[in-house]
Amino acid sequence: MKVLLTGGAGFIGANLAHYWTSHHPGEELVVFDALTYAGHRESIRPLEGQPGFRFIHGDIRDREAVGKALSGVDLVLHLAAESHNDRAIRDPMLFLQTNVLGTGALLEECRRQDIPRFHHVSTDEVFGMLPLDTAERFTEESPYRPRGPYPASKASADHLVRAWGETYGFRYTISNSGNNLGPYQFPEKLIPLSILRLLRGQTVQLYGDGRHVRDWIYVVDHCEAIDLIAHRGTLGSTYLVSAENELSNRAVAERLLRLFGRDDHSLEFIADRPGHDRRYALDSRRLREELGWHPRHDFDTALSMTVDWYRTHASWWEPLLAGHGVGT
Ligand SMILES: NC(=O)c1ccc[n+]([C@@H]2O[C@H](COP(=O)([O-])OP(=O)(O)OC[C@H]3O[C@@H](n4cnc5c(N)ncnc54)[C@H](O)[C@@H]3O)[C@@H](O)[C@H]2O)c1
Repeated sequence: MKVLLTGGAGFIGANLAHYWTSHHPGEELVVFDALTYAGHRESIRPLEGQPGFRFIHGDIRDREAVGKALSGVDLVLHLAAESHNDRAIRDPMLFLQTNVLGTGALLEECRRQDIPRFHHVSTDEVFGMLPLDTAERFTEESPYRPRGPYPASKASADHLVRAWGETYGFRYTISNSGNNLGPYQFPEKLIPLSILRLLRGQTVQLYGDGRHVRDWIYVVDHCEAIDLIAHRGTLGSTYLVSAENELSNRAVAERLLRLFGRDDHSLEFIADRPGHDRRYALDSRRLREELGWHPRHDFDTALSMTVDWYRTHASWWEPLLAGHGVGT
């Protein structure tokens, strides 16, 4: 079995590359990644040199490069994307180019080469937002109502994958998960950014009132879900991936403060992001009932493992701070 993993030098992709090589040691794994600011060769360095592992520096928008990389591939795991909402608000066209046109180019090359199976990784943000203080959750049948350029570009990519299925008989599965936490995440999103700020004695910054609710999952639990769906998921189906850890950003920040022995005086509220969705929550019954998936990590354990990882891997994140001016 030969697997092509796009975006495998990014946060979830690197975790998936580590997961895959340890759970499927006999398989070939090719990571295909453009190494944008969010992709780091260091994250997969330990895998390089292992039998069956290969890295290709390439852009999913480049059909020729994609075409070559797909030679002999049995399964594509598509994670490459621009993924940060704040960046999408500043530069939406890049998100359209990568997430929409890049996915289109990849689909076309997969179709041309008749790739047997394609798994597309997406986000809960395509469904829009839920009100606070309700028990409502998104399901696989919820309508798409993206509210910002990033989720709109991911929604477009999801539609393309389904359209290729309907029109060309393309063999795909799709998964949509909530917010991931864990190692190897570029320090611009809430958890890694807050950890690095706390490590340097700074405040934790929260957008607006901090009451925005997200559905958190430990990245390794997400990797296990991707593995199950890509192997055993019903073709043409979508699966929502949720560990049912609904927490407000403020609640996450308070748990982090406790892990660092700090109190609420270390919270700082900053101007909100435009169009900031209030709440996401996913119903993952299909995944649990059909494929027997369940998360293995509770949120507090996952958070403290993530804090420990950043504490002990300054050599991974220090060069990123210098190179990209984040975390100040
Ligand atoms: N992080 C989350 O919480 C989360 C939640 C749900 C879904 N997702 C989705 O999962 C996927 C991975 O997310 P992530 O958080 O690991 O993202 P990330 O930003 O950390 O990594 C993205 C990777 O894609 C690569 N990339 C970007 N443009 C590329 C291009 N044109 N060609 C080839 N490679 C390119 C980058 O170099 C990087 O390695 C994305 O599709 C994202 O939408 C993420």
